[in-house]
Amino acid sequence: YAFHILKGLRILEEELRDILNIKKVIIVPNSADSDPLVYKEMGKAASGYIDSLITEKSTIGLTGGTTIAQVINEYKYRKEKLSDVTVIPARGGLGKKVEYQANTLVQNLANKLGCNYKTLYTPDFLSQDSIESLLKEPAIKEIIELIEDIDILVFGIGRADIMAQRRGLSNEQIESLINKGAVSEAFGYYFNEAGEIVHEISTIGIDFETFNKIENIIAVAGGSEKAEAIASISKLNERLVLICDESVAKKIIFKY
Ligand code: G3H
Repeated sequence: YAFHILKGLRILEEELRDILNIKKVIIVPNSADSDPLVYKEMGKAASGYIDSLITEKSTIGLTGGTTIAQVINEYKYRKEKLSDVTVIPARGGLGKKVEYQANTLVQNLANKLGCNYKTLYTPDFLSQDSIESLLKEPAIKEIIELIEDIDILVFGIGRADIMAQRRGLSNEQIESLINKGAVSEAFGYYFNEAGEIVHEISTIGIDFETFNKIENIIAVAGGSEKAEAIASISKLNERLVLICDESVAKKIIFKY
């Protein structure tokens, strides 16, 4: 019985990969909508996959959010220290709750890997002037250079409306985003259905050009309400690897 379920999931993974036209899909069984433990399973699957990609000198970039927090929670401690590996946040401090902030997750993962890390504590919204002067600071420059070196990026996908609310945007700003067709959010950018940028959060961190050069780009997202957001993010790059749950996979495939 279990074998048939697994076989079914493997078929779904290939189907979803072809529909989204991306590199790889990993689906964990059941629905994250009704069972919060499914997020834990997504975390396990993602951490195992990420671990298989790490090489001696990897630079790993993380975003924040509850899903990536589960990935790091499920990560197993390495027996040997990875002294040439570095973990960094992909962007400045996004999000209010400290336990889900990229900086916190970076420290937790570095602790499990026994590797180096750098944090980036900047507010969510910075004026262009502040960005320009901050970029002249040696400590900020150093982290920007590291961001350009990321070879494994692990990021969450959000719905545009929910992320805009979570980030404390005003009602008018939210409305304007929605009017521009924003359906998804990832690493500080809002995208429309076609995967085109409609808005960028003005803070320091990864830019879209850098994102497209990263060798391993891994998105972890689940719950059927994220179907449209996941489909939008899948348009960004054909090398995307997606780890999701069965409910959202089926929603994208069967469009119900
Ligand atoms: O950018 C998108 C967010 O990281 C998604 O957050 O995992 O808490 O839904 P979440």
